[in-house]
Amino acid sequence: MIDKATAQKIKDTADIVEVVSDYVHLTRRGSNYMGLCPFHNERTPSFSVNKSRNYCYCFSCHKGGSPVNFIMEKEGISYHDALLHLAKKYGIKVEERELTDQEREAQSRREAMFIANEWAMNHFEHNLTETQDGKDIGLQYLYGRGVTQEAIKQYHLGYALDQGSAFLDAARKKGFNIDVLKTLGLVGTSQQGRDYDRFRGRVIFPILNSSGKVVAFGGRDLKGGPAKYINSPESDLYKKSNELYGMYQARSAIVKEDKCYLVEGYLDVIGMWQSGMQNVVASSGTALTDGQIALIHRFTKNVTLIYDGDAAGIKASLRGIDMLLSHQLDVNVLLLPDGDDPDSFARKHTPEEFREYVKSHETDIIRFKTKVLMNEVNDNPQKRVEAIRSVVSSLACIPDKVKRDVYIQECSLLLGVSEESVASATAKARAAIVEQLKKQRTWQTLNHQIEAGKIPPVTTPESLPNVASPNPTETNAEGTGIVSNTPSQSISTQGSISNSPLKPMEWTVLQYCIRYGFLDFCQDDTTGNILTVLEYVSDELSSDNTEFTTNEYSKIFNLLSEMIPQFRKDLNAFKENLQIEKESKRQEGYADIGTKQLSINEIQREEQKLEESLNNWEDEMVAEFSRAYPSKELASHENDIVRRLTTEAITEPHQLSHIYSRERPVEKEEDKLITLLPTAIYVWKNGILDLELKRLMSEFREISRSGIHEQALRVQMQISELMRERSELAKNIGDRILCPGTGVSKNQRY
Ligand code: CTP
Ligand code: MN
Repeated sequence: MIDKATAQKIKDTADIVEVVSDYVHLTRRGSNYMGLCPFHNERTPSFSVNKSRNYCYCFSCHKGGSPVNFIMEKEGISYHDALLHLAKKYGIKVEERELTDQEREAQSRREAMFIANEWAMNHFEHNLTETQDGKDIGLQYLYGRGVTQEAIKQYHLGYALDQGSAFLDAARKKGFNIDVLKTLGLVGTSQQGRDYDRFRGRVIFPILNSSGKVVAFGGRDLKGGPAKYINSPESDLYKKSNELYGMYQARSAIVKEDKCYLVEGYLDVIGMWQSGMQNVVASSGTALTDGQIALIHRFTKNVTLIYDGDAAGIKASLRGIDMLLSHQLDVNVLLLPDGDDPDSFARKHTPEEFREYVKSHETDIIRFKTKVLMNEVNDNPQKRVEAIRSVVSSLACIPDKVKRDVYIQECSLLLGVSEESVASATAKARAAIVEQLKKQRTWQTLNHQIEAGKIPPVTTPESLPNVASPNPTETNAEGTGIVSNTPSQSISTQGSISNSPLKPMEWTVLQYCIRYGFLDFCQDDTTGNILTVLEYVSDELSSDNTEFTTNEYSKIFNLLSEMIPQFRKDLNAFKENLQIEKESKRQEGYADIGTKQLSINEIQREEQKLEESLNNWEDEMVAEFSRAYPSKELASHENDIVRRLTTEAITEPHQLSHIYSRERPVEKEEDKLITLLPTAIYVWKNGILDLELKRLMSEFREISRSGIHEQALRVQMQISELMRERSELAKNIGDRILCPGTGVSKNQRY
């Protein structure tokens, strides 16, 4: 592994002009450089290099990118290897990161597998040309099929001796780990537990990956046995769907010709190669996969599929075309004369004839498909409709709008349908594909996130001081500052209170409502009115339809809310009385000041002090009235549980115990309410989201196991929506707590 800093240094150092100049002769054009594109054949330069932005681009074939991209594309190597390549060019020392034990083990195991495969390939090659059986049987067969010595060397063909355990014995002697050989499918174990060679009496076709390492083998039977081919199993080295036979040998020719021939079998590749067409790979008899197409696309966007001209060949050629078109490849198809595959055709014709045939017979795949389908229509309207539909679905796979339009025009002629109707049908189908792609992308990203455990854990924002953990099992941890004892068991055992994990969170909020519900709390953002604690909580909860799930809590909260109008009236009456009392206190005060011998200034100061203390006294009286208000009603409520819960809420200690110390005065919970209350609401809401998230995640796992894509997709969407909500929630509450100026009144009293 290259560490991040070094990778960055390499990227910063690599200069696009210098890097490209190793491959292309560049000439200056204004602020840019131009040259002949190294990715396709051209006579006039369309390859532009922008020094200031440090990237290159071909206006014709659209390849290019950063220096790293350029090297990856040009050398056909991985991102990691491209970085190493550039590091070497610029003399940057790369200290590859120390691998973890796990990585080292995996690495050395992979390494061991590669070494074993490499050795096996050499062993088989040696057998073919240096042993009697190899020469008599293997080589004889290959010569019989027209394979040249040159091709044998080029494709490292070999022979596995037909001797039970000849390979195994040789490998043992060399000290190879037999388990590794088994994983690679070179050695098998019989039911009796005896180890044996899996490849016996077969011609061996080694399969190299695009950087030339041996990843697998195909072994062709020579005795007319039941299994024509035995192939290596999938392993850490070999993912069948990501490899193409012959890619390593074809790589540079594909880039040079800007074209790739795709055939079916090992011998087809060899036949083409011998006829001078080296840019050829095989899908090894199976349908093309996305991974294989992506591999081709690393080297070219032009593909010609070569098939047998019989019915099966035609069918096969039509099979993978939508996928190829989706990958932005330009696809041609070539049918060989009936009954011939590239291998047999090559043997019947000279290389020149073969190349000439290919040139003059390859057809654009959509045109080809349209013609083939229209040939089968025979005036049958039903078939005609089907043909049109099928062509339209292929057209819709073409990502490039301009290209699509060109084809629409041409196909409408071939289909005998108006251009407009083909165009509108295609547009509709295209829209559906685009929609599907979008969904797929979300699906994939989320899937990766979940697999990688990246669904973020429930967290409280860092800005929150002394916040209770939102995890229900951890609430009321020592020192959280939030009172979250759930009320006594005796109540829940009565069966009327649910055991939701949200219960302690709800209780905390309810407790604040009972203790301080009618105290002024903050100013409403929009109306400017002063909100009581109760009104604040009520607004917060209704803003996203949060409700108490615990029945009794919900009941008490509603009772409190219903008390608001009466409270307002009572408070006003109380305040009127207070004014009278205040006035008489003021009189007393002034009289008192008048008895003292004071200067004018001193008198003014004393009167000011008096007013202040009167106001404070008034505030405190109002607060005291408000504080006592809820319990007056609820502590004597007819309902047993309501009465008990209320009592419990008011009698529990209101101090923040952990802050208590001898030096400092005890901090009152009430004084910290401006932080505690929003936090408690946040913790609760977060708990709800967390619970829902957990439920969705397990639903998702369930569904993805059963493979119902649509449903899983829906759940994925819900999960992402929830995650968004959660981060929004954290942000909002964090803002509120951090900036009491916004939304929290300055003259709050609580
Ligand atoms: N193939 C395979 N396993 C099989 C059959 C076929 O992997 N059991 C792959 C091989 O890559 C083979 C290709 O499919 O080359 C095409 O199959 P086929 O035409 O049957 O084999 P050829 O190699 O063409 O052999 P031959 O011409 O001798 O029949
Ligand atoms: Mn064949």
